[in-house]
Amino acid sequence: MNIIWDAQKYTQAFSFVHQYGEDVLELLDLERDMAVLDLGCGNGALTKRLAERGVRAIGLDASAELLETARTHYPDLTFVRDDATAFVLDQPVDAVFSNAVLHWIDRVHQPAVLQHVYAALRDGGQFVFEFGGCGNNRRIHAALEQSFKERGLVYEMPFYFPTIGEYAGLLEQMGFRVTYMTLFDRMTPLQGENGLEEWIRMFVKQPFEDLAEDEKNSLIRRAAALLQSDLLRESVWYADYVRIRGKAVKLCSPGAVHAG
Ligand code: BEZ
Repeated sequence: MNIIWDAQKYTQAFSFVHQYGEDVLELLDLERDMAVLDLGCGNGALTKRLAERGVRAIGLDASAELLETARTHYPDLTFVRDDATAFVLDQPVDAVFSNAVLHWIDRVHQPAVLQHVYAALRDGGQFVFEFGGCGNNRRIHAALEQSFKERGLVYEMPFYFPTIGEYAGLLEQMGFRVTYMTLFDRMTPLQGENGLEEWIRMFVKQPFEDLAEDEKNSLIRRAAALLQSDLLRESVWYADYVRIRGKAVKLCSPGAVHAG
């Protein structure tokens, strides 16, 4: 998905994306000077957290806008522009970390991502991730579908939100050993009195691509009205997030020699 991000707004109004990601870092077993790739690093906030833990952190993202913000905020860190479905690193890394990224890549391209993550890791390297899991934002997408339908339009949900079974299967097919995976609800408060409309504008772009601005605004407003009784609580809007979080380890290549 090729998206042009409003990097400033993303960083200011949606900072919860990387703040929640700090919990995911805890799944990594880190040692000083390990090389760790932050796959889909966005504005670089979590790449910085990794670096603060004493590892050699590299941020990788496809968005020029987000990378510019990352480089401006963290000029001492290494950032590269590349695609999660096609990247190749010069040297293998000890761990790949990815927060709130993999749902942007459709089901067809998921094996390509995992293939490149696998190739980027040393034997025994860790892959730690969190993204939108099965049922993520179900109520928001249902309201958008209803709003589109009322105008004779068809809404196609543009994200990949797998079950644990499906994603564990993909990892195992690629040669990973899955050591941990969980799926959980996370109702997430949004900023501002129009928080839900802003969220939709920031994150749900594809379904509106061919529509006029007026029509887009009406569709979003209608979706928010449909959700008011459910997701507006004591004047705070919430997004009904579901996370899939996990850890997988690259199995040693069949011919590798193990000492001890
Ligand atoms: C998320 O789960 O982080 C997410 C999914 C779709 C759009 C925006 C965020």
